[in-house]
Amino acid sequence: MANTIAIGIQWGDEGKGKIVDLLAPRADVVARFQGGPNAGHTLVIGNEKTVLHLVPSGILHADTLCLIGNGTVVAPETIIEEMDTLIGAGIPVDERLRISDRCQLILPYHRALDAAREAAKGKGRIGTTGRGIGPAYEDKTARRGIRLIDMLSPGLDAKIAENLAWTNFQLTEYFKVDPVDRTEVDAVIEMARQRLLPLMADVALILHQRHKAGDTILFEGAQGTMLDVDFGTYPYVTSSNTVAGAALAGLGVGPGMVDEVLGICKAYTTRVGAGPFPTELYNADGMEDEAGRYMAEKGQEFGSTTGRPRRTGWFDAVVVRHAVRVAGVTGLAITKLDVLDGLPEVKLCVAYERDGERLETIPADAAALEACTPVYETLSGWSESTFGATSMAQLPAAAKAFLQRIEEVCECPVTMLSTGPDRGHIIHLDP
Ligand code: GDP
Ligand code: IMO
Ligand code: MG
Repeated sequence: MANTIAIGIQWGDEGKGKIVDLLAPRADVVARFQGGPNAGHTLVIGNEKTVLHLVPSGILHADTLCLIGNGTVVAPETIIEEMDTLIGAGIPVDERLRISDRCQLILPYHRALDAAREAAKGKGRIGTTGRGIGPAYEDKTARRGIRLIDMLSPGLDAKIAENLAWTNFQLTEYFKVDPVDRTEVDAVIEMARQRLLPLMADVALILHQRHKAGDTILFEGAQGTMLDVDFGTYPYVTSSNTVAGAALAGLGVGPGMVDEVLGICKAYTTRVGAGPFPTELYNADGMEDEAGRYMAEKGQEFGSTTGRPRRTGWFDAVVVRHAVRVAGVTGLAITKLDVLDGLPEVKLCVAYERDGERLETIPADAAALEACTPVYETLSGWSESTFGATSMAQLPAAAKAFLQRIEEVCECPVTMLSTGPDRGHIIHLDP
């Protein structure tokens, strides 16, 4: 396998965990480069389901080294809990995982600030995962973040005192909520010292050495292009870049290390959290549509991290085309095709319309996107089951026609097709 960046190209939850897990045996290294415990990546192997938030999705494979890069934000309690669950299942995590000395830590005051902001915004909230992602990335950019390497720094106490004082000032004076206690922060720091320091490494150096030795690298993205802080539906986005370019800066490697970019997307669209979603059909807040409800129920569309119901809608080729461009996607991995089985017709949004004008690209302004209505192409559905199909020959003609049209309107070839949650439910279309 070529060195591949695997990223989500809708609003997250496209099935990255499944795809990375199934590609991992072909890679020697799997590396996460951005995001944090806001991610929830699901792996299904037979009757066993594993949901990973911070640990890379290659962890179940004996010969794969898993790396967490400098571009991520790591919550010590979350990753330690995840590690313990995996260790309990017999996975030797400490042998397979290394964490960048430069990665930022999410501390309890980041979560408190995330929660206070969302509560204060009320109806206008972003609908974050509440994991402290935004505040942790803000501290990084403000040059006051606490990194894993700081666990060894004699200046750590003073740095935490200063950060906590500033955050508590905001919490108590502006948001009028309780401050965070220092002992809570110290307990997390102690956990990080004990459990994460032994895994700390110069991840960029490891990648360079492995690459030089001819090893194959698989880069695992979190979230999706429409949640990218620059190219997503700003401000209804996450606080990191999620496009392929982020893999380079988030791990400390150059573009020469990357051969391919795999854009992972569902055969329809989902979103969890607030913000524009032009092809939305159905949500838990009362938007009703038969096909949208069908996707939500059959696709079991509930967040892997928060359990929140996901909003659903038709496949949006304007979104995917945008992602193909800004992330340099070389091949599409379409997931959850099986969820569309049984619908009498399926739709593809090929453009938007706003004020009587046809748009082929995504407007930069969220309000402008909100004002767009989808221009649909309607195709025949299929009654046959595609669930678990492993070859194109098993697919009905209508499903093949749908995929072909996706390739045409997204201007990108489909190289993988997922037909169920299990690792084995896959069709490889590589030439
Ligand atoms: P990620 O965040 O991109 O890794 O995706 P999530 O794990 O949050 O959500 C994807 C969900 O869809 C998980 O429950 C997967 O088990 C499931 N899934 C992935 N691929 C398929 C597929 O092809 N068909 C079906 N029915 N489910 C799938
Ligand atoms: P994976 O990796 C889906 C969404 C949140 C919210 C916005 C900002 O599983 O695809 P944040 O907590 O990051 O500040 O929230 O981003 N969001 C995700 N949606 N999948 C994810 O990750 C997400 N991570 C964040 O719902 O709208
Ligand atoms: Mg997810």
